[in-house]
Amino acid sequence: MAEKTFTRKQIAEWDNKSETVFIIDNIVYNVTKFLDEHPGGHEVLVHASGKDASEDFDDVGHSFDAKELMKKYVIGEVVAEDRVEVKKKHVAWEDTKTEGDNGFLTSWKFPVFLGVVVTLLYSYLFG
Ligand code: HEM
Repeated sequence: MAEKTFTRKQIAEWDNKSETVFIIDNIVYNVTKFLDEHPGGHEVLVHASGKDASEDFDDVGHSFDAKELMKKYVIGEVVAEDRVEVKKKHVAWEDTKTEGDNGFLTSWKFPVFLGVVVTLLYSYLFG
């Protein structure tokens, strides 16, 4: 993992013209070599340079692959005094696991139930 530590001030004062360095979730990344490869374009990364990009990074909803890839660019972490709480957003699809838990009327069971009742009624009345 990260062996070097940096203060937030050090990152803010980094020579951003020659290098692109930012913080995501208290980890410091140097993405200078990644700029041209970034699928989201080099501009957003350059713009984030010297800053804490945690929120912007999270807003994009980066994939698992992106999170694996970023490990390559870690140069260190933020010193203990400058750390902030890592906020993790819960993406909507994680909350829809209870699908099918809807009321009886809105689930697939209702039309099936209705079909059975009508069939039974039909055979009872006309059978
Ligand atoms: C080391 C840091 C980063 C890595 C390795 C990385 C990697 C990637 C990858 C692999 C994608 C393709 C989509 C995906 O797999 O999620 C992507 C898309 C994108 N990224 Fe990053 N990213 C990094 C940092 C950032 C930051 C800090 C921002 C914003 C300030 C950003 C903004 C975007 C945007 C806007 C897209 C395009 C999304 C789209 O086309 O829908 N990325 N990034």
